[in-house]
Amino acid sequence: MKVETTPIKPHGGKLVQRELTGNARELWIKRAKTLKSLTISKWSISDIELISNGGYSPLIGFLGKEDYQSVLKNMHLSNGLPWTVPITLPVTKEEANRFIIGEQVALYGENGSLYGVIQLEEIYEYDKMEEAQLVYQTVDPKHPGVKKLFDQGDVYLAGAIFLLNRPKHSEFEQYYMGPTETRKMFADLGWNTIVGFQTRNPVHRAHEYLQKTALEMVDGLFLNPLVGETKKDDVPPSVRMGSYEVLLKNYYPLDRVRLVIYPAAMRYAGPREAVFHALVRKNYGCTHFIVGRDHAGVGNYYGSYDAQKIFRQFDSTAIGIKPLFFEHSFYCKKCMNMASMKTCPHSNEERLILSGTKVRELLRAGKTPPPEYTRPEVAEVLIKGMRQNE
Ligand code: ADX
Repeated sequence: MKVETTPIKPHGGKLVQRELTGNARELWIKRAKTLKSLTISKWSISDIELISNGGYSPLIGFLGKEDYQSVLKNMHLSNGLPWTVPITLPVTKEEANRFIIGEQVALYGENGSLYGVIQLEEIYEYDKMEEAQLVYQTVDPKHPGVKKLFDQGDVYLAGAIFLLNRPKHSEFEQYYMGPTETRKMFADLGWNTIVGFQTRNPVHRAHEYLQKTALEMVDGLFLNPLVGETKKDDVPPSVRMGSYEVLLKNYYPLDRVRLVIYPAAMRYAGPREAVFHALVRKNYGCTHFIVGRDHAGVGNYYGSYDAQKIFRQFDSTAIGIKPLFFEHSFYCKKCMNMASMKTCPHSNEERLILSGTKVRELLRAGKTPPPEYTRPEVAEVLIKGMRQNE
């Protein structure tokens, strides 16, 4: 018989809910027309969505200066909770000059849709070089996260937000769930232990190996691909989603896995983003989180296992979710199996190791990577999708 355990607590103890519904929503939609307006980027819209659905609990809005500095310098909020990535709302100086502290500002997307309202509590300037160095460990503008930072406005607006209209997720709306729903789903499924998997890529055999190894130990797998903004040469979510579907259908026990989109933007902040990813998945109800080689990394900015080592700097009780660390995984011809540096004694010549760039090249040329690297069904979906996207 299965023993029921209490679900994992959200970060900070309580799941934040900042989405207005019913009459309050109607009222605020009308009131928003009388407020000053601000057009925000897709990146900021995804932040609002995740603040309002509780994914970023305990945050209820964009960080004020004290919390911002504390996150940058101590990787904790000023109340002492671990938090590694600053969640901020950048605007230009000219835009900032239009606003007064204390007022409410209506937030619109570039398409003119209303998303929410911010209660303006602070307006402050910040140091981009400092933020780049501390969050991304580099000030190289070629780093995609740093580039984004350098290109954005010089001033941050801070304050609590609430959501009036949830962003649409086009063709994969059916895979959207917020943390309240996923927590209920896990309870209904009777899962006590759930491993979260973050990815911005198609799931290849190495990812599958990590997920299935974890599945040997826990009740269920929460496959939670990031579908917010990514860099141009990453495979777009519209192509990836089909590859997840076909993979799950052909190779996974469907009663032990759930696919739900993670609407955040990719920051490529390596170690800091790994901790952030883990905390957010705790809010979704996961008890475990996979951190493999170069998690959330890009280029050669981070050491292969920096995203694992960073967890040592935190009190594990305060992190709450248990990171599951995996070493570099691959197919080994001598082992005739998927394996990792931890389990395979053979040399690199025996191992099938392909770079992401090489695989993208193959797929673009319409060539199927070896089945030991990618499931043929997945390759087929990717080749077709990439052709349509050219
Ligand atoms: S993401 O973190 O930037 O979204 P990606 O999609 O590449 O990463 O990987 C998802 C997860 O699988 C991360 O935890 C990453 O460390 C891990 N991972 C990817 N490839 C391998 C591999 N060959 N061996 C071990 N871990 C891997």
